[in-house]
Amino acid sequence: MSETELDRAADDLTGKLGVDVRSGLLAPQKWLPSKWFYDERGSRLFEEITVLPEYYPTRAEREVLEREAGEIARVTGARTLVELGSGSSEKTRLLLDALRAHGTLRGFVPLDVSESALSEAVEAIRADYPGLDVHGVVGDFTEHLSLLPGESPRLVAFLGGTIGNFLPADRVKFLRSVRDVLSEGEWLLLGTDLVKDPGTLVAAYDDAAGVTAEFNRNMLLVVNDRLGADFDPARFRHEAYWDAGNEWIEMRLRAVEDMTVRIPGAGLEVGFLAGEYIRTEISAKFRASGVAGELVESGFSVERWWTDSGKRFGVSLARSRN
Ligand code: SAH
Ligand code: AVI
Repeated sequence: MSETELDRAADDLTGKLGVDVRSGLLAPQKWLPSKWFYDERGSRLFEEITVLPEYYPTRAEREVLEREAGEIARVTGARTLVELGSGSSEKTRLLLDALRAHGTLRGFVPLDVSESALSEAVEAIRADYPGLDVHGVVGDFTEHLSLLPGESPRLVAFLGGTIGNFLPADRVKFLRSVRDVLSEGEWLLLGTDLVKDPGTLVAAYDDAAGVTAEFNRNMLLVVNDRLGADFDPARFRHEAYWDAGNEWIEMRLRAVEDMTVRIPGAGLEVGFLAGEYIRTEISAKFRASGVAGELVESGFSVERWWTDSGKRFGVSLARSRN
């Protein structure tokens, strides 16, 4: 099979993982950034998560896009659709279809740190949308936003609730950085998972089939793979904890016994006490007023706000302003 043509903005991922592992695993509360879930296996496991009965966000967001894609195309008249953290870009097809039907769509620019997910998506979309200029970028959306091409007006889609994987302070910084690369009047479509009862939330992150547990432990395999570490994932228990004060789900990997892990690629040996955990992800849940406040604070005006019929997931359409 021919290699998919992609732009590579992300370089030296192994070096960057080493830096993150050193700072995260030497911190008093051990943690690792959630972007390291997504090697080829991690991206595949995430796709499995999206169809689990307990994991409602993908279905809820799709319901909104199915209902509103035509309106999004009409209001934005976008010529370029940029997608950050695009993964498989499955739901994004609803936007591509609507923009194509509206007659304005020229280009699609998906950006993702996972090269395997991106190349699969780019290939599939090139095949299904002949004539569309598809420009895949392997990159980190916290670093490489200035490298996004495309004719104006652009619509940047940030779907799936991935904005919730930032800590609150980094969230506004990120939204501002998106605003900074947009011209006045260009658009952001933002998906946000909403606060709901803790039972539903915890089940979505601790499914009965154990797929999310495998996804969580995959980060240890990524560290083994890239940095030659000897983590034994079976000695870490998956946990999903609802932090009611912060209104976020925290994914954790808890050591089931005392152990020492060697991580040669980071020049590190790390001790774990039984019961100690690594925080691997936060997934913040939102309220409409909070989303609107952060968008306005970041230089956007909120033009539309929609939820699914179950009010589980929110989608905002915002416009960059001066
Ligand atoms: N947008 C898709 C996928 C969400 S999963 C959906 O709604 O289903 C999150 C995606 O973001 C993954 O594909 C992951 O590889 C990507 N990702 C995570 N952190 C990233 C980062 N810092 N830069 C770029 N992509 C990132
Ligand atoms: C990508 N992100 C929005 C997902 C979420 O729900 O926070 C990642 C995920 N983590 C566990 N399950 C899915």
